[in-house]
Amino acid sequence: MNCIGAGRTGSTLCRLLSPYISISQIINRTERSAQKAVSFIENGSPLALTTGDFKTLRPADIWMITCPDDAISELGKALLESNILRDGDTIFHCSGALSSKIFDTTGRSKINVASIHPIHSFAQPEKSLTTFSGTYCAVEGDEAATSLIGPLFESIGALLMPIGHENKVLYHLSTVTACNYLISLLDLSQTILAEAGISDIGNTKPLQGLIEKTVDNFFQGNAQTALTGPFARGDVSTIAGHLNALKTTPPVWQEVYTSLGHLTLNIARSQGQLPDDNLTAIADLLDHAQREQKN
Ligand SMILES: NC(=O)c1ccc[n+]([C@@H]2O[C@H](COP(=O)([O-])OP(=O)(O)OC[C@H]3O[C@@H](n4cnc5c(N)ncnc54)[C@H](OP(=O)(O)O)[C@@H]3O)[C@@H](O)[C@H]2O)c1
Repeated sequence: MNCIGAGRTGSTLCRLLSPYISISQIINRTERSAQKAVSFIENGSPLALTTGDFKTLRPADIWMITCPDDAISELGKALLESNILRDGDTIFHCSGALSSKIFDTTGRSKINVASIHPIHSFAQPEKSLTTFSGTYCAVEGDEAATSLIGPLFESIGALLMPIGHENKVLYHLSTVTACNYLISLLDLSQTILAEAGISDIGNTKPLQGLIEKTVDNFFQGNAQTALTGPFARGDVSTIAGHLNALKTTPPVWQEVYTSLGHLTLNIARSQGQLPDDNLTAIADLLDHAQREQKN
């Protein structure tokens, strides 16, 4: 297997896969970076690639492209237009948002293509070597490619989730909501707490226990069993008080509160405990605040 773009993801996957497949060339933009990757992988020979100049590449049955998402299309195109690929070879990438359709195999129909996206953060490659096993991976592409890549990833502990190529963007939206937006929400919670005059106590974050218990409750059960607080209780006046306080804060705080308020109210409604009057009163408050935001 050759790897183009052995950064955090590529280096980690090559090192994990190396007992199961022979790693040939490790191709980055710079010689220094390729050398660093080879040292980490403990396999393969380093190569610095000037985009489009594929004369120095050696053939390989499998090409893993783990460069940044924005470069996948260009590199895939250059690879497919080169004469380095042989019929039956496989190319895959690991992007969450892009599908295997990014590789245009028109005229090269015997090249197999796939994408496989691990729901894993490779921020600390050394750590990922021990934590990757058990990672869910969304996989799609040609039958020939997925039946080759899938078992290979299973050998390093991946749990495969087949996905349609047309659903990759929605799928990625889910992971961004779960991972990135959760961080934004946690950060906003801490900012509001600081605004209320409470800051970290030593290394302890006062909201940490509440957050961890809530996440735990969600995964032990579901949204209905985990939701508590003013929306679940139907406390109309408390929510009115929140909206009043938000009139003097940055507008985005109110936008977040009202948008997520509607989602939270839907969960409260599905719990089936609240009288309709409370549900309607809260929905009216949120709608009214949103109308005021627009004016
Ligand atoms: N990071 C994650 O946690 C994670 C998780 C799941 C999936 N992914 C996916 O994995 C892929 C890689 O992400 P990453 O975070 O691992 O990236 P990264 O650490 O920034 O590494 C990117 C690598 O690509 C190389 N590169 C960039 N442009 C190139 C080019 N034109 N030709 C050859 N090599 C090139 C870079 O080489 P130089 O060092 O020489 O510039 C670098 O080694 C992306 O598709 C991403 O969506 C990442």
